[in-house]
Amino acid sequence: MIGDRATDDVAASNASADRKQRGAWFTPQHLVDAVVEAVVDDAFVACRRDRPIQVLDPACGDGRFLTTVRAAVERRGGSVRLVGVDVDASTIAAIDSTLGIDTVCADALGGGWIDSVRPDGGFDLVIGNPPYLSQMAAATSRGGSSGRGGGPYMDAAAEFLALGSELVDANGGRLAYVVPQSILSARDAGDVRRRIDDRSTMFWSAWTGERDFDAQVVTCAVAFEFAPSASGRSDGNWSHVVTERSGVPALASVFERSEPSSGRLGDRVRLNANFRDEYYGMIPAVGDHAAGPPLITSGLIDPGRSLWGVRPVRFAKQRFSAPRIDVAALDAKMTRWAEQRLVPKVLIANQTPILEAVCDPDGDWLPGVPVVSAYPLDPEHAVGVAWSVAAMLTSPAASVWAWHQRGGTGLGPSAIRVGPTMLAELAWPDGSLADAIGALRAGEIMRCGELVDAAYGVTSDEHESSMTWWSAILDRIERRS
Ligand SMILES: C[S@@+](CC[C@H](N)C(=O)[O-])C[C@H]1O[C@@H](n2cnc3c(N)ncnc32)[C@H](O)[C@@H]1O
Repeated sequence: MIGDRATDDVAASNASADRKQRGAWFTPQHLVDAVVEAVVDDAFVACRRDRPIQVLDPACGDGRFLTTVRAAVERRGGSVRLVGVDVDASTIAAIDSTLGIDTVCADALGGGWIDSVRPDGGFDLVIGNPPYLSQMAAATSRGGSSGRGGGPYMDAAAEFLALGSELVDANGGRLAYVVPQSILSARDAGDVRRRIDDRSTMFWSAWTGERDFDAQVVTCAVAFEFAPSASGRSDGNWSHVVTERSGVPALASVFERSEPSSGRLGDRVRLNANFRDEYYGMIPAVGDHAAGPPLITSGLIDPGRSLWGVRPVRFAKQRFSAPRIDVAALDAKMTRWAEQRLVPKVLIANQTPILEAVCDPDGDWLPGVPVVSAYPLDPEHAVGVAWSVAAMLTSPAASVWAWHQRGGTGLGPSAIRVGPTMLAELAWPDGSLADAIGALRAGEIMRCGELVDAAYGVTSDEHESSMTWWSAILDRIERRS
C-alpha cells in the first residue's frame, strides 16, 4: 500500500539520519582482520598468558572487533575479557549474548560508565572504529570544543583517540583504531596527537587512499603501543602514514631545522582565507560584468598563473566565464573588505595536489572563498615580497614540505588542504629568489621550481626525487588546463 510505503520511507530516512548522527558505518571484516592481526601478535599474547587480556571497544556496534580479537587471542593460547560500549540501545540489544561481551549502553565520551568496567592499570587493548562526526556539518557538530582538548573543529574520532589513550594500560597497552585520514594532520587534532605521541609509539599503520567502506571519507588505521618512555616521534605529525604510501618524497633536510635562519613566511606576509560571511556578501555583486575587479576562485589558480577568463567557473551555483565583482553593489562592510584586498598579494588555491599560487602585483583581483591570500606586511616592498612568495610556493621543496605538514587533510587521497596557519610556518629560503622570480614572470614554472629549491639549499638527491614527483603533477595540471 502507498501509505505504508510512505511510512517505510520516512522510517528509512530517519534511520539514515540517525546513523549519520552516530557515525554508524560498520567496518568490513577484511579491515577488522587486518587491524586485529597487526596488534594481536604472538608477543602481545605471550606476556599476558597468565590472565585474561582486557579488551575495550568504546563504540562497538555489533562487536565485530571484539569477537575477532577473541579469535586471534585464543588461536595463540590466551583468553580475553571483552567490554563493548555503544550509545545506541538497539545496537547493544542486538549483540548476541552468547558472544561473551560485557556490554554497556552509554555515551562513551561522557565517561560515567568507566569506573564500573575499567580494570586496575587500564585495558591491555582499546580497539575499534569510532564514529566520525565532522564538526563542519550542523547535523554532527557538538557545537564547540571537545572535553578532551583539541580545537573546535576536531572530529569526534580524535576525541575517541584521546579517550582510548586515557583508558589503555600506560605500560605496554595498545590502542588501534580505524579513523578518517584527516585526523593524521588536521590542525585541530594536533593537541591530541601530541599527547599520544608523548606516551606511545605508532608501531603500525595502514592507508589505501580509498573510501574503504560506507563512510564518506578516506580512512586509515593506526596502532600505538604505550610505554612510560615511549620512543615515538613527539611532534604530533602523523602525515607520514599517507606520504610514505602515496609517493610523496622525503622532506628535504633543510626543513628539519627547528628555527630557520631566514625566518618564516608568516614573518613577511599576513595570511588569511575568506569565510562564509564574505561568500554571502559577494554573491549579489558577482557577474560577467564589463567592469569591476576579477574574482579569482581556487579553481582558477594554477601554479604561477590565473585562468581567469580562460576557464569558466561555478560560483554560488551559477556558471560564469569571466566573473567580476561590482564593488558598487557591495554593502559597506564588504566594500571595506574589497578595498583592503585590492593591494599587491599572492592568491593560493585551497585543495590541491601541489601548492598552486599566483601573484597579483598590481592588486587588481579579489579572492574567492576559500582561496588563501598572502598580503605583504611591508608596504614599501609589497610587490617584491609578493613575487618572492609566489616564487617560493612554486617549487618542489615547498610542496613536499606542505604534504609533510598536511598529508591526509584533502577531500580525496591526492590533495591536501592548504590553510593560512600551515603556510605561515613555511621557512623562508636563505638564498636569493631573484632568478626564480624572473623565471616565474616569464612563465617558466619548472625553472622557477629548480631555482627555488637551490635557494632553499635542497641537496641534489633530494631535489631530483622531489622534482620528478612535482613535475609529473605539474604536467597533469597543465594538461587539465
Ligand atoms: C563506525 S561505527 C563502528 C562500529 C563497530 N566498532 C565497527 O567497527 O563495525 C560507530 C559506532 O559508534 C556508536 N557511537 C556513536 N557515538 C557514540 C558515543 N558517543 N559513544 C559510544 N558509541 C557511539 C554508533 O552507534 C556506532 O555503532
